[in-house]
Formats: sequence, C-alpha cells, structure tokens
Amino acid sequence: MSKPGTITVYTEERGAALGDLFGIFFEDINHAADGGLYAEMVRNRSFEFDPIDRQEYNGLTAWEKVELEGGNCSILVEQANPIHPRNLNYVAIEIIAPGEGVGIMNQGFNSGLPYREGETYSFSMYARRSASFDEPVAVRLEGIDGTIYGEAKVLVASAEWEKYEVVLASSATDFSGRLTVVTKGTGTLYLDMISLFPTKTFRNRPGGLREDIAAMLADLKPKFMRFPGGCLIHDGSLNADDRNSMYRWKNTIGPVEQRPPRKNNWQYHQTLGLGYFEYFQFCEDIGAKPIPILPAGSDPHSQRFVPIDELGPWIDDALDLIEFAKGDATTEWGRVRTQLGHPQPFNLEYIGIGNEEIGEQFFERYTYFHQAIKTKYPDIQIINSSGPFAAGGEYERGWRSARDNGSDFVDEHYYQSPDWFLAHYHRYDSFSADDPKVFLGEYASWGNTYYNALVEAAFMTGLEKNAHAVGLACYAPLLCNVDYVNWKPDLIWFNNHQVFGTANYYVQQMFMHHQGDHLLRIVTDGFAAPAQPAGNKERIAGKLLVGANLNEVVYRDIRLINHETGEVKTLTDKVEIGETEEDRRHRSEFGRKAVVGETGLKNYSLSMKAIRKNGSRGFIMFFGFQDEANYVMWEAGSHSNQESMVHAGSKGYRGCLTQSLFSPETGVEYDLEVRVDGRRIRTYIDGALINDTEHIAPVIEPLYCSASIEESTGDVIVKAVNVQDVDVEAQLLLADLHVDNQLIDVYALSDHAVDEMNSFEEPEKIVPKHESMLTTSNQVSYTFPKHSVTVFRFRKNN
Ligand code: AHR
Repeated sequence: MSKPGTITVYTEERGAALGDLFGIFFEDINHAADGGLYAEMVRNRSFEFDPIDRQEYNGLTAWEKVELEGGNCSILVEQANPIHPRNLNYVAIEIIAPGEGVGIMNQGFNSGLPYREGETYSFSMYARRSASFDEPVAVRLEGIDGTIYGEAKVLVASAEWEKYEVVLASSATDFSGRLTVVTKGTGTLYLDMISLFPTKTFRNRPGGLREDIAAMLADLKPKFMRFPGGCLIHDGSLNADDRNSMYRWKNTIGPVEQRPPRKNNWQYHQTLGLGYFEYFQFCEDIGAKPIPILPAGSDPHSQRFVPIDELGPWIDDALDLIEFAKGDATTEWGRVRTQLGHPQPFNLEYIGIGNEEIGEQFFERYTYFHQAIKTKYPDIQIINSSGPFAAGGEYERGWRSARDNGSDFVDEHYYQSPDWFLAHYHRYDSFSADDPKVFLGEYASWGNTYYNALVEAAFMTGLEKNAHAVGLACYAPLLCNVDYVNWKPDLIWFNNHQVFGTANYYVQQMFMHHQGDHLLRIVTDGFAAPAQPAGNKERIAGKLLVGANLNEVVYRDIRLINHETGEVKTLTDKVEIGETEEDRRHRSEFGRKAVVGETGLKNYSLSMKAIRKNGSRGFIMFFGFQDEANYVMWEAGSHSNQESMVHAGSKGYRGCLTQSLFSPETGVEYDLEVRVDGRRIRTYIDGALINDTEHIAPVIEPLYCSASIEESTGDVIVKAVNVQDVDVEAQLLLADLHVDNQLIDVYALSDHAVDEMNSFEEPEKIVPKHESMLTTSNQVSYTFPKHSVTVFRFRKNN
C-alpha cells in the first residue's frame, strides 16, 4: 500500500447550506401503489379493470366464480345501478342453485393474498340484494385449496347499496391465500368495492399503507418526497374525465368508492386509493416535504397540448392544490382538506410543473403556470423541467426557460452507466449559485449491484459538494413489485409479503441519515494516483456501422474523412438495410446493423446520404464500436421519431450523452455526418449542427469525499467513497475541532464483491456496519477498504 494521503476538514469554514438535498421519488410504476405501498389486498376490488388499462384486462380480472358442491350461479359485471357514477361497474351474482354456496373469489396480487397467523384483516364491501335473497353472506380468508383460515357472516339486508364491514383473524400463515365471498341464498346478490386490508397498516390508518414498505421509506429519513410520477403525470388525454387522462389530482381525493378508475401509463389499472390526501399525509408522517408534480396540459409523447386559451382549469388545478395543502378552513380547498380530517395545513414549499418535458409547447405553457403561482403564492418554489436527458438542445431549452421565468429549480433526469457517473463527477462544479437550482429528480446507474451503489455514492459526494447549485436530488424509481416490473433498476423490491432494500438503498440511506446542514471545506492531498480504467481516453476508435431500427433505410456514398490529412475514402457506395417488428423480437434494441469500416483516427468524419423508405424511426450510425457492450451510436430519429440522440454503451450499460429534436421524413434524402475530434462528437444533418457533446472518459479519484456539519448536534460528518480495488490509507485531520478521547461513529459499506446484490433470500447481505472508535486527537488514521463507502460522525468535546 502506498503512503497515506491527508484529508483535512476545516470545521469552522462553512459552505453552502445543504437544505433538503436528499429525498425520494415515489412514482406509481412497477405497481408501486396498488399491489405495493397501498395496502389493499384485493386486486380489482371494484370490477373496473378494462382493456383500456391493459389489453388482457376485463371487469373480472383477478376474480373467479365459486360454485361449491351443488352450486350453480352466473357472474355478470353490470353498470345499470352503480354505487356512484364514477364507479360504474359492480358484479351481479345470479344464483341458479345455491348448493353448498356460490359466489366469487379474489386472487390478490402476486401469488395471492398474504395471511399471517393471528393477524387481523379489515374486510369491507358494498352490497345490495334482490327481493328474494335472504341468506347471510360468508366472507372467508382461504388457502388456494379451500382451507378456511377465517370466516365472518354478513347479513345483506337492503335492496339499496350499503357498506358492510367486518374484521377477520387468520388461523394460518399463507402468502398465496384467496378471499371468497359466498352465499347459500337465492335470487341475486350485487357486490362492489370488495376490500381487504391488514388491520395493521403504517400508523394503523384504516385503508392505509403497507407497513413494511412504508417503514422502509420512513427509515430512509428523506427530506422530501416527489410524487406521483414520472411519465404518468403527463401521458394521457386532456379530458380529466377520461380513464386515460393525464394525472389530475382532484380525481384522487374523497371517498375511495367515488374516485374514478384510471389507466396507468405503465399499462395497468390504478385505483387512486393512494391519492393526494394520502400522499400529503404520508409525507407528513415521515417528515418529508411533499413535492407534487402536476401536468401542464402538454404530452410530448403523443403530442397532445391543451390550447393556450383553455389553460385556465389546468392552472386552477395548481393553485387549488396549493390551497388544498395550505389554505385554512375558510378557503374552498382548505375546507375540503379540513373535511377530510386534516385541519392543519400540509407543509407545502415546492411544486413541479411538468415531468421531463421537451418541446416548445410545454415551455410556452409553463410561463402561464409560473406567473399565476408566483402571483398568488410567491413563497412556493417552482420546479421547471429540462427533459429526460443529461445534455443537449431540449436540456438547454429547459434551462433557458427556467432562467427566463425565474424558476426556483430545474428538474434534471438521467439514467446512465456507472462509467458515466464517474466521468461526470464534476458535472456541477461549474454551475452558478445565481442560476435556478438543480433538482436532480430522477437518476440511477443501470443496476442494483454493489458497484452501482458505490458509484452512486461517489457521485452523491459531488452533489453535496455542489450544494450551491444542487438543491434536491432523488434516486429513481423507488419501488418495484417483483411480479410487475416496468423498469429496473429500482431502489426497493417487494412481493406480497417481503421487501428488501438494494445496495443502492443503503447508500441513499447513509446520505440521508448523515446529510448535515452546511458544507464544510474539505481538502485531500498526497494520495497516490489511482489505476485508471483501461481504454483510450484520447480518441474514439473502432468499427463503423450503419443500421435500421423498425424501418428500411438506404445509405449511399458512405465516406470516412481524415481531418488530419484531408484524405477522403469511400467505404461503400450503398447499403440497404431493414428491420421489421418480427426481426426486432430477436435482435438487440438498436436494430439491424452492418459494418462499413473501421478507424483508429483521432479526428475524422463518417458521412453519408440516407433515405428512409418506410417505418417510423430514423438513421443509425455506430462509431468507436468495440462490441455490443462498448460503442458510441448516433440515432437521428429515435423514440417517437422526434429526436437526434448520441448514446454511449459502456460495459453493457447504455446512456444518452446528448439529445436534440429532429424528425426525419420518409422518402427524403438527408446528408448525415458525424464528426469525431478526440472525445468530442458533433453531428450534422444537411450541414446543420444537431448534436455537440464530449464523451468524457472516466477518471478515478483517490477518494470521493465531502464534509458537513449538523447544526442541531454540532456533529461533523465526513464521507469518503473508495471505488478503487485497493485499500486507501488516510490521515483524517479535523482542523479547529477538539475531539480528544471522544467516541466517534463510523458507518461503512465494505467487504463486498462488486457484483453482489441484496435479494429476497439475502435481504441484508449488503448493509452498512456501525462501529465506534475512540479518538485521541483531532487526527484519525484510517484505512478505507477497497470498494467502500464510509461516513464518520465526530462530536465536539463539551
Ligand atoms: O422512472 C421511470 C421513468 O423515467 C419516469 O416515468 C420518467 O419520468 C422517466 O423517463
């Protein structure tokens, strides 16, 4: 091991305030709400599932007919006499022969309804009966084989809808249980809102949140919670009454049986049982400031935009939401909150308009929201948007809009390779304190391995050190039900009865538990230079390819230009290439491709003419292609044929380096050129510059460090991340602090192979370990193990 370096923390030199830096982002993706945090155990409780939500759904999804011995009935989903006009469907059980009982059975989420021996469950349903129906209804907690774990009888006495409630205890533990509602009556029984919750929910709220998942979130101690999305807030129609509308918060409050069914854009049904009141309440419970994100009547994905002269109701939604959170009982929406049982205001300081928006239409509309909110609520901090990419035309446009409007924050989103995070450690060093602040509203490195977590920890020290510019940051997505995966990686995984935090979770937790209130100056010195990753940092060399992605393209005149010598070489005259939907099922996500050459040059262009014969997307060029896992790629006309993007693949992880708008047309020939100069990449279409980016190579730092002070305790917090595969020895010197003979706390993640992960089988394989150390002076010798995240907490001598 080389000679120790020095880390000096100047404990009297305060820097920027850390404010609410680290929080969480609750997005209803991966069944994070229904079948997740929302503790409802019955799936499709109000028979509202519909093919609009997902092709294979119908009103009886997750339900089965029950006909016990001698029983015969028909089950129909009807709408003629609903419990509420927004909750149209209910089930009619027409009893032909009751036998030993007829009725319906719910399959729950995942493998079934999870029952635990001795625990109680709160059942409720709305029911009415035909005149001839006169027998009790049995509610049963059952095993899949019909074993009864708990039973209660309900007398349905009325021909009008009434709510019936009963508590049942389970005599067994079974995570694949069923809920049945059966009767031996005759006639017709009508049922709706058949619901079962564990009695024990988070804070024991009836109809509340799953205790184990909520506890995992509370245990993070987040400073804020962003919700409820994500794309789900802006994907959808403009009519709030449509099932597939954009997310309109007013649909999500009040009695659950009156909340409309909703198509979640991640292709499932959303009950809205977890709605805005519950989100605010949960934030309050866990001490996190709420950050609601509202749609701006602008859906970039399907190009739906509310006309400017019809923006009024959308802006009112934002103003009313603020009043709902903060207004007193004399205000319209403050009264609604009071009536819902919360006379005290919720602590709303921030609001986001739009989710990762692109396009002029959004930015035009944003201004109206901004002005209306600032006029009425000048203290509310408004978050603008900079699209889903870390750089490029739309990203810059978002920042421009934020500066022009005086937004308080700009929401940045990026999902990238671990190498990208290391390469961009200094991303925010040059950001100005006078600009709007960064809200890093979504980020993750692609994976839940220990290495991903380690790299994120390193990056997070960079976020902290730039607290002058970065105000809020949250990992995404937060939650994933293992049987309903829309997106991974995710911070927390669960099924119907278990939950575990990933290595990434424990990194987030370390940073949230030990954030501190102000930065302290920290200086590192004398560390040996780390070994750097293999690979050429000077140039982008490798194979050259062209490709097609769900289309047919003709490339002509494909040339390699050497800008050092001026030599122009024709690589090939013509490549015709195509990829069908069927091809795509068997091929990589970037379609079919053909090698046209190779170069080791430092300063070159690849140019060609290209015409799309059919299909929806545009043109593809690879350069610096080593293999399927390591490459750079330009796609002109990606996603919904709207963008020109440069991607980098690194060790199998892909990330977008930059993005701008461009929509190629079928049958039009374009001149395409990608120019590579060292690590700088510029793309041109018909001679016009479209993308301009630097593919920065990662440079490993000896240690990634930050320091802060917690004002309430006076504790000095020092974090150090070692991403190297060798131990690093250091002298940690606390200038101006007397810590002789003091116990200090050390929390560390270490001793794991880089590919290790937590799992249901080993949920706490990777968790921070805590030890106390006695200091004898204000200087500590410490060896930071290879691949480790370490947090020190020093207390001052009294
Ligand atoms: O978090 C997953 C998705 O990523 C979000 O819905 C969206 O905002 C982003 O593209």
